[in-house]
Amino acid sequence: MNHRTNSEDTVEQTIQVGLDERSYPITIGMGINRYVGTRLQAMGLAKRYAIISDDRVASLYGQQLLEILCDAGLACELITFPHGEASKRLDTIEQLASNLAERGFDRKDGLVALGGGVTGDMTGFLASIYMRGIPFIQIPTSLLAQVDSSVGGKTGVDLPQGKNLVGTFYQPRAVFIDTEVLKTLPRDEFIGGMAEVIKYGASIDTDFFSWLAHKREAILGLEPQAIATMIRRCCELKAQVVEQDEREGGLRRILNFGHTIGHAVEAASGYQLNHGFAVAIGMRAVAELAVRIGMADSSVVAAIVQLLQAFHLPTEIPPEFDRASLRAYLSIDKKTVGGRIFFVLPEQIGKVCITDQIGEEDIATVLGAR
Ligand code: GLY
Repeated sequence: MNHRTNSEDTVEQTIQVGLDERSYPITIGMGINRYVGTRLQAMGLAKRYAIISDDRVASLYGQQLLEILCDAGLACELITFPHGEASKRLDTIEQLASNLAERGFDRKDGLVALGGGVTGDMTGFLASIYMRGIPFIQIPTSLLAQVDSSVGGKTGVDLPQGKNLVGTFYQPRAVFIDTEVLKTLPRDEFIGGMAEVIKYGASIDTDFFSWLAHKREAILGLEPQAIATMIRRCCELKAQVVEQDEREGGLRRILNFGHTIGHAVEAASGYQLNHGFAVAIGMRAVAELAVRIGMADSSVVAAIVQLLQAFHLPTEIPPEFDRASLRAYLSIDKKTVGGRIFFVLPEQIGKVCITDQIGEEDIATVLGAR
């Protein structure tokens, strides 16, 4: 990892994602978006850029980024789409691609994803198929995107049948994480992003799990140093996993900790429940599953619930959710293979294992026992 101080004393840190010719830097720092133009200019990736953003993020940061890129001598345009998960579908991709084609974007041009997970996933997908592939960079503006979805190259859109069912693995050429933008992030979205942060501690890094508990006040108060350290650790852990298993042949599945049941909860809510909230509920549920099958001690559930609650995250499946629908959603999830549902279960804090050997009765109990 490198440290560098900009002219205005913005301390930034860089982590490299090592994937041979597809390697790329993740740069993290307060206010670093001011330097994105000169960095992109120096990288020489494209002759022109389209910044893709939703209407909400574009109204906050679109014009500013456009000017930053233009001031650095880069040709660029801003293209927006309506905010929200409902936009994450194939016809939005078609509209964006047509928009690029009408403006004469060709294979020497590039995309900039400015926004949260929906924008990053869609822009990455568009970049992977437009003219059979053009470069793109990620400028994530939500905590969830900064600690998870902007890194690792998963791209895609939803289908009516489920989330992320159409997509590609396509790595960005760089990720710029400006922690300053978190100041304008709605509180629920910040809290939801904390579920993904806690996921790393609970599944891979015990020390980080303890550190999060210790730094709770500073993190919730958006204290810059704590936020930067937290995001850096998540990106380091994600990079380490992706470097070993880019296309989720095995190890990368551990990053789905809490997501198997979480996605079912999210689907059962009609996608009204914040993704992070659903993942938090899913983490508690799989911890209980691990205890039920004798894999983990009940202290693991207690520790996970305590940390989730410390960050104001929910841990219970809402009682009004229909258990039969939840069970059905588990079977149609993308992580289900050949009818086998793979669960990422904690053996202890910081250590998980993956199994498809869970009995129907145990699943039913954790889905309905509370
Ligand atoms: N969000 C999990 C992964 O990127 O693999």
